[in-house]
Amino acid sequence: MAGKPGRGPAWETAAWAALSDEAAKIQSDKGPHLRDLLKDEARCGALQAEFDGILMDYARQKVTLDTRQKLLDLADAVNLKVQITAMASGKFINTTENRAVMHIALRAPKGEKILVGDVDVVPEVHEVLDRIYDFADRVRSGKHAGATGKKLTNVISIGIGGSYLGPEFVHEALRTDEAGAAAAEGRSLRFLANVDPVDVKRALEGLDPESTLVVVVSKTFTTAETMLNARTVSRWLEEAAKSAGVDKSEMIAKHMIAVSANVPGAQDFGIDGDNVFGFWDWVGGRYSVCSAVGVMPLALQYGKAVVQEFLAGAQSMDEHFLTAPLENNLPVLLGLLGVWNSSFLGYSVRCLLPYSQALLRFPAHIQQVDMESNGKRVALDGTELPFDAGEINFGEPMTNGQHSFMQLIHQGRVVPCDFLGSIKSQNPIDNTGNGEPVSNHDELMSNFFAQADALAMGKTQADLKAEGVPEKLWPHKEFPGNRPTTSILFPCFDARRVGQLLSLYEHRSAVQGFVWGINSFDQWGVELGKVLAKQVRTQLQSSRQDGAKVKGFNPSTTSMLERFVASQN
Ligand code: F6P
Repeated sequence: MAGKPGRGPAWETAAWAALSDEAAKIQSDKGPHLRDLLKDEARCGALQAEFDGILMDYARQKVTLDTRQKLLDLADAVNLKVQITAMASGKFINTTENRAVMHIALRAPKGEKILVGDVDVVPEVHEVLDRIYDFADRVRSGKHAGATGKKLTNVISIGIGGSYLGPEFVHEALRTDEAGAAAAEGRSLRFLANVDPVDVKRALEGLDPESTLVVVVSKTFTTAETMLNARTVSRWLEEAAKSAGVDKSEMIAKHMIAVSANVPGAQDFGIDGDNVFGFWDWVGGRYSVCSAVGVMPLALQYGKAVVQEFLAGAQSMDEHFLTAPLENNLPVLLGLLGVWNSSFLGYSVRCLLPYSQALLRFPAHIQQVDMESNGKRVALDGTELPFDAGEINFGEPMTNGQHSFMQLIHQGRVVPCDFLGSIKSQNPIDNTGNGEPVSNHDELMSNFFAQADALAMGKTQADLKAEGVPEKLWPHKEFPGNRPTTSILFPCFDARRVGQLLSLYEHRSAVQGFVWGINSFDQWGVELGKVLAKQVRTQLQSSRQDGAKVKGFNPSTTSMLERFVASQN
């Protein structure tokens, strides 16, 4: 039976059929327009949920109270609660890799007991955390100095995908936060992800190797891009050792550390076992921000206190996810609305719109979390899904996005959006004394409130007529409206809130996967390209070294490869 461990495939349940009927009604010409739905005070009040000061308003989604009930019925029909509990209690729900999915354990407080198999993993988690905090503290204080005695004030974190995007998102989010900025004074953190040599140039530009610590982050310690970048940067360190007259091995020992679930692999690379910080196969790459993957670079940059706040924030949202009733459960509601918009209303794209420059890299991180998790074509038992799972996620900080892609969302295709804003700014500039009508943050947030309403309410030809707009422009200036959005208002974006935001969106993707009956925790779809790249790499090597003819590829690839090899020889 597809869809295990729910009660059956979601799409065969009465709840799914009821939602299909509901969608047909809502999308019909006679269906309600959001501008009418938004007149209903009781509905608006009911379509809000709150946790710890975070307000989620989904009155601008194309749902009635009845629709919400039907979505909750679907959650019940697929045993959503049971599936969430199975994940949190260490069941091996990643069935194609025979693994548990336990990123929740990474932020569990000391003393809590979480079993994976028959092992309580919380003590191991804290043992690694304590080692990281201790190491970071020694680097930050200068006790662990570089090979030439200089303080290690710069860090380059080398990793890609899940070993990069989450840590970069959190770093960007914290660097203008008051506590984050104070803790990071005099320090720098950079990331090197792309195997493109241009990224190497950018990452190393202007850096003094003698004051740089390199963290190689890779769950498998086999990822081609990361390994090549690590070798390139270790040569950069060795060159510096030569110029400074210090031993190469001393340079690597002092300046290179690793984070990996493959500790022997990291040691084989040449990194001292004491400088390898481990994690576990029950942490998926894209869910690894709260393991050593994120904690090591973040602790080096911001210190223990800030990182602990971030982890505590993520833990508080986990707790909410695991205990709050589904109708008030923020990640569950976000996930159910995602299923509604994509599987029933047919919107396959969604947009993340943070009204905070600090959340600059949040959309990119969630793009991986969600698309690598839910971009699947078969159910847990391998049967083909009768619908497309997963959604295309994209986004940018606002108001920048308003001046680029929002045109399409207002008047082109319907793209459900999540608006993320905060009551307090990380940098409250008040120019009202200089004659500005409102503070800078109020200016930013005016757009947060206005855009969501513009998308919902639209503007009719009657409105245009009343404004005296010439008739020939009416079709161009009309806004259909009725475009669904959710607005989430945070008190602020400090370390704790950033942790909550991370956990909220990690669990959103899990909820959708549970409802769809897919495995959100494997990623076989990234493998084929890696295998083919190996074949191309071997061809390039033999063409360059021995002038070997290009062979074994289709005519299109052969002709491009021939041109590539010829023009670079
Ligand atoms: O290619 C995709 C992927 O496997 C991601 O799932 C993962 O986050 C990334 O590569 C990096 O993998 P690793 O941490 O093993 O280097």
